[in-house]
Amino acid sequence: MVGSSQPSQRYTNLAAAKPDNGVFAAYDPVMVDFDDVVTHRRSIRAFDPERRVPESTLREVLELAQRAPSNCNAQPWQVLIVSGERKKQLSRRLVEAAEAGRARDESPTPDFVGVHRRRQIACAVTLYGQLGVAREDREGRERANLRNFEFFDAPHLAAICMDRSFGLGVALDVGAYLQTLMLALWSRGIGSCAQASLRAYSALVADELGIPADLRILCGVSFGYACEDAAANRVFQDRSSIDEHVTFLE
Ligand SMILES: Cc1cc2nc3c(=O)[nH]c(=O)nc-3n(C[C@H](O)[C@H](O)[C@H](O)COP(=O)(O)O)c2cc1C
Repeated sequence: MVGSSQPSQRYTNLAAAKPDNGVFAAYDPVMVDFDDVVTHRRSIRAFDPERRVPESTLREVLELAQRAPSNCNAQPWQVLIVSGERKKQLSRRLVEAAEAGRARDESPTPDFVGVHRRRQIACAVTLYGQLGVAREDREGRERANLRNFEFFDAPHLAAICMDRSFGLGVALDVGAYLQTLMLALWSRGIGSCAQASLRAYSALVADELGIPADLRILCGVSFGYACEDAAANRVFQDRSSIDEHVTFLE
């Protein structure tokens, strides 16, 4: 606890969760302890396409995510759950657009500089390293990127939207929803990967899914059951020290 001179048991557990060799061990996502869920959750980028999440489980998870806090309890998120033929058709169109080199509607990531750029590079090095894609292998990286538009073979995609008129403050609420959703999924043995990459072709996504013009898509979330032995699912992305982020004032 902040302010306590005694390191808490929880903190010790967090430190222990970091794998020695820099990758996660066997995929074992079913856990109910909050700290375990938070520290073991990672982005899943290889799913079993045939194993759908039962509707009752999905509804349970969505009910939990709905408990996310929001300013004035406005609950500003709008979510489309896309599965089956519609998801396949969306994937086909996205892959086609990307392969044709179609201009992007927007860049899904800002042009990071300084420490944020360094962290972005470290993230890519870790991910591609685990996937066995060399830094100079441009084609390999493009292929790995295309997997975004195949939703990593996930049986489901959540398209996370909010009203177009809303700004940064409201996007915060949707971020709280997003994390609650992903943790609720993980606690039930269901993996996910948030995907800002969908914003690259947001008009195409809106067209395919019939998203009304007054909504904007903030990101997608591919989700489903992980392929347990896939290297892509063992990626451990480290975090910097809280000292780089938190200032204590009295
Ligand atoms: C809003 C958001 C958008 C993201 N977009 C993508 C994406 O388009 N493609 C992807 O592979 N990962 C994406 N990620 C996953 C991040 O790369 C990942 O969360 C980060 O590297 C930390 O790794 P971890 O989730 O395994 O802890 C996104 C994450 C968030 C929160």
